[in-house]
Amino acid sequence: MPVLAIALDELKCALHQSGARSDSDSAEGRQLRDWCARLETGTILYFPQTPLPIPFEELQFLRKLRQSRSGVHKNIAYKPKPDKLTGVDRESFSTEEIEQLHAIMRGYSASVTEFLQGFFAPYGKRWQLDYASYRPIEEEGRDLPVRHRNDLLHTDAFPTRPTHGRRILRFFHNIHPDRTRDWVVGEPFESVIGTFTPGKLELPRPDGAVARTGKRLAQVTGLASLVPQWKRTPYDRFMTELHNSMKEDVAFQSECKKEEIQFAPGSSWMVYTETVPHSVVAGQYALEQTFLVDPEAMVIPGSAPIAVLEAMAGARLV
Ligand code: SIN
Ligand code: FE
Repeated sequence: MPVLAIALDELKCALHQSGARSDSDSAEGRQLRDWCARLETGTILYFPQTPLPIPFEELQFLRKLRQSRSGVHKNIAYKPKPDKLTGVDRESFSTEEIEQLHAIMRGYSASVTEFLQGFFAPYGKRWQLDYASYRPIEEEGRDLPVRHRNDLLHTDAFPTRPTHGRRILRFFHNIHPDRTRDWVVGEPFESVIGTFTPGKLELPRPDGAVARTGKRLAQVTGLASLVPQWKRTPYDRFMTELHNSMKEDVAFQSECKKEEIQFAPGSSWMVYTETVPHSVVAGQYALEQTFLVDPEAMVIPGSAPIAVLEAMAGARLV
C-alpha cells in the first residue's frame, strides 16, 4: 500500500513543537528527510487527523454552498499571488458570501503554507505556492469530457501552466462530515512510463534549433503567455501527452494494477500527483493546495520525473 499514516503526536514531535530543525543530524531533521524521501518516491503521506483543523462554522459554510451553474466550473480556485477567487458562479451568491468564501480560502492557503514551511525544512526555500481549490461537487458520476475526468487514472500536468520540470505537490483535506474520499492509485511512475513508451508515446526529445528560437522569440515578445505550446518545454509536452494518453486508453484503465484508498472525513494527505497515478471515484467537499517544488531540492534527486525522463532520453528536456 503506497500510503504512510502519520499520527499527530509523531508529526508534532518531528516538527519539534514550534520551529522545525532541518539539520539532518538531529532526529527531527532525519524524520523530515525520511518523510520527504518517501513522498518523492511515490508514497502518499496520510494524516488520519488533519494537522490543520478548520473552524466548525467555516466547514458548515463551505458544505452549504450551492452553485446553480456548478457544471460550468470544475472547482472553485484561489490564486494566492493576486489574492483572487475564480470558478465562482457570482449569480448564486451574495457579495458577503463571496467575501466569506474568499477569506476562508485565503486562510486555508496560508495555514498549509505555514505548515509546509516546517515540514519541508529539508527543501529550504526551493518550492513555491501555486493555486488552491475547493471541490464541492460529488465526484461519483460526474459528467465531464474525458481529459477533465477525475475518475480515470492519470498523472497531473497543467496544460496552460507548464511547470518546466518542477514537481507538483498537493495537500488535500476531506471536509465531508461523515464520508470518505475514495481514490484509486496505480503503479509507480517508472512502470507507467514503461507501459506507454516506446509504442503508445514517443520519449521526449529536446527541441530543435527552429523551435528553440521560436520559443525564445515568443518569450521576449510576450506572445508565449497567449499560446500554451510556446511556454511548454519538451518535458511539459510529454507530461501533458502522458496525462491525456492515460485517460484515453480504455485498456490501460481497465487492466493496469491499482489499489483503492479511502481518506477518512477530517483527514489530510499529501502526494506528488505528477508521478503517482491517481483518480477520485467518490466523495464530496475537499480542499486542496498545490505547491511547485524544485527538482534539485529533492532528498532523492533521481526521483523527479525530469531526472527519470532526461536519463531515458539522454538529453536535457527543459
Ligand atoms: C485529482 O487530482 O485528479 C482529483 C483529486 C481529488 O479531487 O480528490
Ligand atoms: Fe489529478
